[in-house]
Formats: sequence, C-alpha cells, structure tokens
Amino acid sequence: MKLSNWLKRFALLIPAALMLTQIADWTLGQRMDDSLSVQLGARLFGDNRFSSPNGDLQSSCSSCHMFNEDPQGRRAYTDFLARSWVSWRSKDPRRDGVRNAPTILDSSQLPQLHFDGEFQSMEELVRGTISGRTLGWLPGEEEQALEHAWRVILDDKGEEKTAPYRDQFRRAYAVDLNRIKRDEVINLVARAISDFVKTLKTEKNSPYDRFIRTNEFSDRPAQGETAMAFAERMLARLASMESKGEIKFAKDFNADALKGMKIFFSVRGEASVGNCAVCHTPPLFTDFSFHNTGITQSEYDRLHGEGSFAALRVTAAARPSVQFREIPYRDKPGYIDLGHWNFVKMNSPLRRAGESDDGFLERMIGTFKTPTLRNLAFSYPYMHNGAFFSLEDALNETARLSALARAGRVRAADEELAKIKISESDIPLLVAFLNTLNE
Ligand code: HEC
Ligand code: HEC
Repeated sequence: MKLSNWLKRFALLIPAALMLTQIADWTLGQRMDDSLSVQLGARLFGDNRFSSPNGDLQSSCSSCHMFNEDPQGRRAYTDFLARSWVSWRSKDPRRDGVRNAPTILDSSQLPQLHFDGEFQSMEELVRGTISGRTLGWLPGEEEQALEHAWRVILDDKGEEKTAPYRDQFRRAYAVDLNRIKRDEVINLVARAISDFVKTLKTEKNSPYDRFIRTNEFSDRPAQGETAMAFAERMLARLASMESKGEIKFAKDFNADALKGMKIFFSVRGEASVGNCAVCHTPPLFTDFSFHNTGITQSEYDRLHGEGSFAALRVTAAARPSVQFREIPYRDKPGYIDLGHWNFVKMNSPLRRAGESDDGFLERMIGTFKTPTLRNLAFSYPYMHNGAFFSLEDALNETARLSALARAGRVRAADEELAKIKISESDIPLLVAFLNTLNE
C-alpha cells in the first residue's frame, strides 16, 4: 500500500477515535450531571433568597415542604398549617395562602400539579412558585421576581462548604451563567429543583405494602382494568382467603386494619361501603383526577349559612378567577375556592359527549385533585383547606357529605360521593387501615 493511502486512512480514523472518546466522556458526564443536578436542586430548594424582599417572610420551598426541620416532629414534606403562610404585602395583606400544603412525596408522578391542576409539569410549577404569591410576589410582579432570582444566582458567593451557584451550574450542566440568557438560567433552576423533587419518593415499605406482598395481592389495577373492577377483585380475593383461613397478617397490620381495608375496597351495597378505592386507587391511592366531594360547599355554608353555596352565582367570565380561587371570608360573600373549575380545559377528558360548555363547567365546580393517602400521619391537617386535623374528623365530614349528596343537596357533587355509605362504627376501622399506609 502506498504511503499516501495509509495517511489518508489514518486521517479518517483520527476523527472517529475522537468521536468515540467524546461519546464516552459525554455518557460519563450525563451520569455525573444527574447527581450534581439533584445536589444543586436540594440547595435551591432550601434557599430563602428567592422570596420577595418587600414581604415580611423569607421563605424557601423547604419552609412549607418540611421533612425533619421542625421540632414539632417528622413531616412528609409539608407544614403543620391549615393554610401555608405567605408574606404580608401592603397591597395584599394576608397571612394565609389559599390552600393547605400537600405532601410532595411521589408528586413527580402526577400529571397535573396543585389541587386545582394549575401546573402541567414540575418545571412549570417551580417557575410559577418562585415568581408567585407563594414566595411573596404579587400578581404582575413576575418579571421582577425572575430578575431577582437571576441576580441571586449570579451574585451567590457560596457557603462555607459549598461552591457558588456559578460553579455548581457549570459542573452540573457545563454552562457559563454569564453567557446564557436570564430565562435559560431560570429554566436550569427549574430543572435542578425538579430533579431533586423527583428523588422524594415513598419506599413502599409500609405495613400495607408488606401485607400486600406477603399475601401476593396485586398492588395496582391490571392494564385496562378499571379502579372499580380492581377493587372488586381485591375484595373477592380477600374474602376467599379469609374463608379458608389463609390470610397472613404483617407487622402493624392487624384484624381491624383488615376490616377497614374491606370497607375501603367495597364499591357496592347498603352498609360499610367506602367506595374509597375508586378515587384513591393504589399504588399511590390517587386516580390522578379531580372530584367534588363537597368540601368547598361545607366551608362556604359554615360561614354564610346552609344552602348559600347552592345559591351562589358562578359565571365563567374569566378563568382562573380572582373571586373563585380564594379563601371564603365572612365579610366577602361570593369569594370561594372552586378548584379545578379555574383551569379545566374545555376539551378535557373529563367532559362528557354532548355536554354544553355551561353544563360541563357547572359540573367542574369545587373539584380538587384526589390526594394520595400515603403518610397521612405526617401530613395533617387534611383537605385542600386544611379544615380537619384528624382523620376521624375528615371521615365524619365525608360521611355527612355523602348522605347530603344522596339527598341531592351537594352542588355539583361527584356521582361517586353518593355511593359512600359508612356509619360511625366504620370510621375507626377505616382509620386503622389508613394508618397502615404510613412509612
Ligand atoms: C408558602 C408555602 C410554600 C412554599 C414556599 C412552597 N410551597 Fe409548594 N405548595 C404549597 C401549597 C399550599 C401547595 C398546594 C397549592 C395548591 O394546591 O394550590 C403546594 C404544592 C406543591 C406541589 C404540588 C403537590 C401536588 O400534589 O400537586 C409541589 C410539587 C410543590 N408544592 C413544590 C414546591 C417547590 C419546588 C417549592 C419551591 C420552589 C415550593 N413548593 C414552595 C406551599 C408552599
Ligand atoms: C369521588 C372520589 C372520592 C371518593 C369516593 C373518596 N375520596 Fe377521599 N378525597 C377525594 C378528593 C378529591 C379529596 C380532596 C378534597 C378536597 O381537598 O377538597 C379527598 C380527600 C381525602 C382525604 C384527605 C387527604 C389529605 O391529604 O388531605 C382523606 C383522608 C380521604 N379523602 C379518605 C377517603 C376515604 C377513607 C374514602 C372512602 C370512605 C374516600 N376518601 C373516598 C376523592 C374521593
């Protein structure tokens, strides 16, 4: 072979070899990036400098989504308040935010976030939160808030054992913060916090999970199986094993928990029917959907009198609405939280064939995202308004509202609400079951 040909081949090989080492570096880099991004996200999650300097509270994500930071005890990444506290601002003097903070364990598996489904992704939620009322910013201050967050990142000097954000971002994403635009920096902030939140997962090692595994039950509906069919299958299997004396109890899963479990999975009949699993479907004990279980009506009627919620005029002039996404106050009749009604799209899968715009929106009044029921011991108070500090209180109210719904007296009630038929004696058993979902 002529020397010149050799050289040509060699010349072709060099870029190929370079490319291979680049790919190796790149995959290695990706793997390292992930953990660096999570680390960076954890720091951003606890940084209280993104909140508005014009308010009286400096908060970070971790001020409301606490784990073991509070001397009052362990939390499932939530606070102890009925409604989380936000900064006072002279133009919006309030202490209570609109809603209760839910646990954020497993939240990265939810297709829509917040009780009303405002956000479609974790990244969107982070951008909305660091520029919104949650962190003390008023409507209309979004630009100012993002500008502020950008400054905080660029000016950061690091902490005793932590490099400045500039270095952390360079290592995690191979970017020079000075060379990218503000919105790109904010997007990376959102990505890092989201990567961190994705690591906050339940371990599925609760007494319930152990009971399910020991007895070889399915832990979720099969592909294409409805929640209702799944609940009936679970119940039938429980009954058949019980009649043969084959049930194996697990640690902290006793006979009362089993009785509660049967009520939880019962979907038909006249007594001790929880119908719970239809909405609170395992393994996360949510169907990822939105329902009206009457909580908004009960809060409104307590303030303004029985029947006042039924009489409230709801018009869809503007959604989301200031008036209909608010805490009800005694001196402000007409202010109320209608939940998902504010954000539901007219082409939502929840809409029924042939339903008119008005009919559909009326049915969406007071609908909220089904919350998970895992780790309730560490996430009280309960419901979107945090109105109930114990599970007994929350379930007594659910029982009362289900009876009201059967009487046709809950406005826009979900049709599954009326099917709940539980008595006072069922409630401690349901609570015993719910307690097996704590890790
Ligand atoms: C002032 C208290 C407060 C702060 C600060 C706060 N949150 Fe929240 N968080 C809440 C409340 C209250 C809700 C429920 C809001 C709703 O449903 O309207 C919530 C909801 C969420 C959810 C949705 C959970 C679900 O089931 O849909 C996630 C995820 C979340 N927060 C993450 C964050 C992150 C990340 C930050 C920081 C960027 C943050 N939060 C800052 C109070 C707070
Ligand atoms: C029609 C669907 C549906 C059914 C049936 C249902 N729930 Fe719920 N559940 C929800 C929704 C939606 C919420 C949130 C309501 C709100 O905040 O306004 C909720 C909230 C809860 C909460 C509060 C959780 C928290 O973190 O705040 C508990 C506890 C609960 N349900 C238990 C049960 C039990 C036990 C049953 C059966 C007896 C049951 N639910 C039946 C939809 C349902």
